[in-house]
Amino acid sequence: MPYVKTPQNESFPPWTWSEAPLLTGSSRHEPDPEIRNIMITSGAGLIASWVVRHLTPTYGDHYNIVSFDKLDSCASLNNTTQFNHLENFSFYHGDIMKADEVLGCLRKHKIDTVMHFAAQPHVDLSFGNSYDFTYANVYGTHVLLEYIKTYGIKEFIYVSTDEVYGEVKDGADDPLEDAILAPTNPYAASKAAAEMMVHTYYKSFKVPVIIVRSNNVYGPHQFPEKVIPKFSLMLQRGLKLPLHGSGDNTRRYLYAGDAADAFDTILHKGEIGHIYNVDSHDEASTIDLCAHLLRLVGLPHATTEDLYKHVVHTQDRPFNDHRYAANGDKLRQLSWEQKTRFIEGLHTSRRRERVGEIEAGATRDVDDLATAAHLRAIMRPILDVARFRRKVQTSRIA
Ligand SMILES: NC(=O)c1ccc[n+]([C@@H]2O[C@H](COP(=O)([O-])OP(=O)(O)OC[C@H]3O[C@@H](n4cnc5c(N)ncnc54)[C@H](O)[C@@H]3O)[C@@H](O)[C@H]2O)c1
Repeated sequence: MPYVKTPQNESFPPWTWSEAPLLTGSSRHEPDPEIRNIMITSGAGLIASWVVRHLTPTYGDHYNIVSFDKLDSCASLNNTTQFNHLENFSFYHGDIMKADEVLGCLRKHKIDTVMHFAAQPHVDLSFGNSYDFTYANVYGTHVLLEYIKTYGIKEFIYVSTDEVYGEVKDGADDPLEDAILAPTNPYAASKAAAEMMVHTYYKSFKVPVIIVRSNNVYGPHQFPEKVIPKFSLMLQRGLKLPLHGSGDNTRRYLYAGDAADAFDTILHKGEIGHIYNVDSHDEASTIDLCAHLLRLVGLPHATTEDLYKHVVHTQDRPFNDHRYAANGDKLRQLSWEQKTRFIEGLHTSRRRERVGEIEAGATRDVDDLATAAHLRAIMRPILDVARFRRKVQTSRIA
């Protein structure tokens, strides 16, 4: 059995990662005869691991998939562990900022197509540690482009974000791909700056690029520093949810399976030199999100007052965009569509978050943890176990 397919009536965990039902997107396009070996940077992170899990079995006879990742603390080889023994899947432990590792991967696997997701993507951290974001997101992308320029490939897909458009006022039109970029936090600025580099290599050196700007992506396999898995795990531990400011900032949320389909569509139908927004119809404020999650875990909150009993107000970001948006009509014309609605996606995500915890041996004895400040302490042993497992796995794969 090459991998475990998602059963129709999936039971609640526990499974181990290698037994867990395989989560993929659902699209399939005519394979491109020009494409053979695809390097996917950050293949052990959330979105890219969904793309790896989708492309590897969907195009098993056509494409070899190489997951390239530096394995930061938010990464997990568990996300693709079911493919370790497949012939068309490889893992390459590498850093996009290290030229020898980038070139080593391009040469070893005869790469013809690159989907570049690797980044420092956490907005909150970027306010305090912005140099790291410039190094990884701008310099890292530059290194990739420089080596791709000399090595030569068929397609380079750069994964940007809707945050490059900056704040979109209530009632304003959703930005199209030609809108002016106006990022407002160091993370978004670094993504926009990297876009400029991508555009430059397209114009000056004819590197065949496509840029993709997506709304927020969530789903199973997301590391719990991001709001949905973080809040979900905190509720499970009886902790109050930390709310930035008033909690009325909204975001649009796209299920990772739909994001995988979007990248599959762009890989096969996107035009070189173009930009594509990937949007979601599901917009929710952070307080709406708290309400959804409370309902999912069965915590009653008949009134707003009840709801606020589960929340603790924390200091807001130095600047917190009220709202992000993007108009995805151009991608819809290539026949992509959002299939998973927010509540359904949240429900699936919540159940799957338990898999990681069970694997890390951290499901019990957490009831005494009473404040949000303990979350980091909870995560530390999980991360230590995860790092140890990764080391073992990496040494096996290398
Ligand atoms: N998550 C979202 O809501 C969202 C929305 C729009 C765009 N994006 C973009 O999508 C991409 C992936 O985001 P995600 O949320 O899946 O990330 P993630 O936090 O789940 O994973 C980041 C991954 O990048 C890897 N990485 C970081 N620096 C690296 C380096 N120098 N070399 C190699 N690997 C490195 C990490 O090890 C990790 O696997 C990012 O470029 C992000 O800007 C994310």
